[in-house]
Amino acid sequence: MKITMEQLTHYAKNYGFVFQGSELYGGLANTWDYGPLGVTLKNNIKALWWKRFVQESPVNVGLDSAILMNPKTWEASGHLSGFNDPLIDCKACKARHRVDHLIDAFDRTISADGLSIERLQEIIDGSTIKCPACGVRDFTPIRQFNLMFKTSQGALDDHSHDIYLRPETAQGIFLNFKNVLRTSRKKIPFGIAQIGKSFRNEITPGNFIFRTREFEQCELEFFCEPGTEMDWFNYWKKASMQFLLDLNIPQDHLNFSDHAPEKLSHYSNATSDIEYQFAWGFDELWGIASRTDYDLKQHQAHSGESLEYMDPMTNQKYLPYVIEPSLGVERLFLALLTEAYEEETLDNGDIRTVLKIHPALAPYKVAILPLIKKRHAAQAQTLFETLSKHVTCSYDDTGNIGRRYRRCDAIGTPFAITIDDDSLNKGTYTLRMRDTMAQITLSEPQLIEYIQKHTAF
Ligand code: GAP
Repeated sequence: MKITMEQLTHYAKNYGFVFQGSELYGGLANTWDYGPLGVTLKNNIKALWWKRFVQESPVNVGLDSAILMNPKTWEASGHLSGFNDPLIDCKACKARHRVDHLIDAFDRTISADGLSIERLQEIIDGSTIKCPACGVRDFTPIRQFNLMFKTSQGALDDHSHDIYLRPETAQGIFLNFKNVLRTSRKKIPFGIAQIGKSFRNEITPGNFIFRTREFEQCELEFFCEPGTEMDWFNYWKKASMQFLLDLNIPQDHLNFSDHAPEKLSHYSNATSDIEYQFAWGFDELWGIASRTDYDLKQHQAHSGESLEYMDPMTNQKYLPYVIEPSLGVERLFLALLTEAYEEETLDNGDIRTVLKIHPALAPYKVAILPLIKKRHAAQAQTLFETLSKHVTCSYDDTGNIGRRYRRCDAIGTPFAITIDDDSLNKGTYTLRMRDTMAQITLSEPQLIEYIQKHTAF
């Protein structure tokens, strides 16, 4: 049975994965802090994505661009004029709603995403939709709400210094296209990858860490020759799906949702979302878009600088087309916890909580557990010093060994080593497996090799 969102939020808080943001002051709505296990899991997700999409790719390179960018960026990209959500207020209770979400929830046969304001207003007017918060039907007219967070740079508090927190990392990549091309000596096709924070003033954030105002994206902008973009679109769709399957998310919990032609964003000639079966149903995890040459064309026009690529074989100049797989780190975090959490009934009737997460993602790869503190702690600490140079280790010498195993299972530690008299006398260690609870005996050099081999990606 799948974990509910309530159980998952409770579990994440209890074990130190995710805490309410600013909890000490009563919290700040929809902000989350990542605890000791959460930050490690998040780092592991990002490291594996980077390994697959940058390190193991002969054609992709990395970038880390600034969050704050020249505001002309957002004029050129269309975010200032068009990065809006349709918004409606309930006059009775003042609750604020995203109109497309209201309509989708009211009538599942209508897909309101991407419809014009006029059409949305017609649907609201012709329906019996009521405010989900108070049940009254008394709405303001629909209006557009820009999702970018505005702030100002420097000491002067006038509008000439308005800047924005980036709503996607992608634009930093487009602005550096020429810099990367020149310095990396790449030839088309090639990609630029970036991991970083993005900010959106979402009207209706929610579902725990699924939709937040501050989040991280792993984005790849892959530049290719016009006319080849559909092949590359399919290539990156497949590669993205494969990454998720390799993280042990089963195929039947994932699907592609292709956007209908009339629902495509103005810059895209094809878009598909990889959806995961979250606790509330299938929802977007990873957007893959063919963005044409829209962004480079816009930045070329607004900056006055040529962003064309010259093909060294044909000497022809052109603006590359772009394929963009864009993954939300927190959404994958949520999917992985949802997938891995299990409450397992053991042969003796006990129930154990176990996080059967891919070993490469596990916050700790191995737990070091001296059987009797007084007798085995010194050797266990020496082993910790040796192993922690190679893999992340936890150390626990309190409570009975069964309880300590349970805690390791609950936080997804794939291996536990017990240090006992045999370890002192013969130099052998008992290695226990999280998923099967089977045990094997290994020597110290074998331990390192075994754990590294079985926690690799
Ligand atoms: N550069 C393209 C872009 O940003 P998007 O579909 O708006 O496309 C890409 O976002 C991914 O970023 C989404 O599939 C999702 O995983 C993540 N994402 C977007 N908005 C989010 C939010 N408010 N909270 C958490 N993750 C979000």
